[in-house]
Amino acid sequence: MRIGVTRETKSGETRVAATPATVRQLTGLGFEVVIETGAGARSRISDEAYTQAGAAICTAEEAWGADLVFRVNAPELSEVERLKEGAKLVAPLAPAVNGDLLAALAAHKIDAFAMDAVPRISRAQSLDILSSQANIGGYRAVIEAAHHFGRFFTGQVTAAGKVPPAKVLVAGAGVAGLAAIGAAVSLGAIVRATDPRPEVADQVKSLGGSYLPVAVEVEQSTDGYAKATSEAYDKRAAEIYSEQAADVDIIITTALIPGRSAPRLITAADVASMKPGSVIVDMAAGQGGNVEGSVKDEVITTGNGVTIIGYTDLPARLPDQASQLYGANLVNLMKLLAPGKDGQVVLDLEDAVQRGLTVVHRGDVLWPPPRVQVSAAPVAAAAVQPPETKAAKKLSPKAQVALVGVGSLALFLLNAWAPSRITQHFTVLTLAVVVGLYVIGHVHHALHTPLMSVTNAVSGIVVVGALLQLTSTDNVVLVLAGVATLLASINIFGGFAVTRRMLTMFRKA
Ligand code: NAI
Repeated sequence: MRIGVTRETKSGETRVAATPATVRQLTGLGFEVVIETGAGARSRISDEAYTQAGAAICTAEEAWGADLVFRVNAPELSEVERLKEGAKLVAPLAPAVNGDLLAALAAHKIDAFAMDAVPRISRAQSLDILSSQANIGGYRAVIEAAHHFGRFFTGQVTAAGKVPPAKVLVAGAGVAGLAAIGAAVSLGAIVRATDPRPEVADQVKSLGGSYLPVAVEVEQSTDGYAKATSEAYDKRAAEIYSEQAADVDIIITTALIPGRSAPRLITAADVASMKPGSVIVDMAAGQGGNVEGSVKDEVITTGNGVTIIGYTDLPARLPDQASQLYGANLVNLMKLLAPGKDGQVVLDLEDAVQRGLTVVHRGDVLWPPPRVQVSAAPVAAAAVQPPETKAAKKLSPKAQVALVGVGSLALFLLNAWAPSRITQHFTVLTLAVVVGLYVIGHVHHALHTPLMSVTNAVSGIVVVGALLQLTSTDNVVLVLAGVATLLASINIFGGFAVTRRMLTMFRKA
């Protein structure tokens, strides 16, 4: 099959749906790739670079007329006719709001794959363009804010005086919000974040931010996206936003509930309470805005000197990487659709991922797809064992006393009758078990990797002990020493191999 990559026609778009790296991968999957001349120019990719990667440069008509057409933006209604009847289209199509476009594609017998309808399940993460692009958008939002802020993000102590760190509030800790938190923390700011999904608190903290709980329960999501918040939640959240607006220097809003217009979080009064020079980036400006007064695609300055940025093209402001990640998402889609690596698409509508993103097929509109339960959703309350049940499993105080009594009696009898060497070894073993249970049992999960080094050290001691037994004339001792050496060596070498692998993940290329 031939894949056509067209030049984006939307004004201000800088991205392209394939890069030389992804062209190589697509040809490796058996596809022929043609690129409209100049398609990569705004991502700084020349026609020659595509040719060297194995693509052919073609006219707009040839690219639009391919068997499979890749786009960064949905085609205009007028552009549907440019597609070959029976062809396949891969693009974000906003199927929930683009009924007319879906109908036009169906009428033209186009099979349409909406890249913005990928279900949010772990298996589909590699094709999720909303995540890959929102991640870039969140980072860029911080860069835009820093540019307009005109002050340091990080605190500094200089001979000329102290500079306090900037305070940043991120509203909505989804993909874009978490990327913004990471970027603002790395610039040295104090970062706080809110989100109705309490499960994000740990992620916010792990990035160096602090989570501001609203402490009002919200309906739990089962599809990886937030549910609409209650009136009580919004009231308490509004109080938090008012307190924070008067304190912070930068606000980045990313709140979104799919299928709805953006929730209004920051009011005009909040904006009025901010210090002059403060900056707000409303990432949801394209969906109606989280901030009162933000204007889509514009930067405005309020009467009290607050800059409100409403850009909706943040990923396109980092075109090279945005194109590369977008293109990689499409390659991952093709790996799924062409499992034979023979350049042929074999659609399996029984598969939840393929069904989710297939919005038009053989003249039928297939939107909306059946709901998919995501693995990332919090466990239903009923499935979690209630604390009373756990407590019930614990031994009663009487049983505990009886158990300690039996254990002490057994130890006493052992000490009284067993030879002294066994008593010594047994005492050391018992103490080791008790100390090990307390020390290792209380090590935080995050520190389990360093704990592996300790078990490596213990295995080292086992090997030394076993080697000392090799002079024994007793065959049983020799066999035991051999087995101990083998098992401990597996632990040592396995531990080193795993550690080495983990370190290479952190090594800069
Ligand atoms: P996401 O679905 O991963 O995250 C949205 C977050 O908002 C979720 O964590 C959700 O729990 C939270 N949220 C929902 N209601 C809220 C409320 N009332 N208060 C606080 N938080 C609330 O979405 P993603 O991918 O992070 O995108 C976020 C927004 O950024 C979307 O509106 C998206 O369209 C926009 N976006 C804008 C770009 C731009 O160039 N301006 C680029 C990329 C994304």
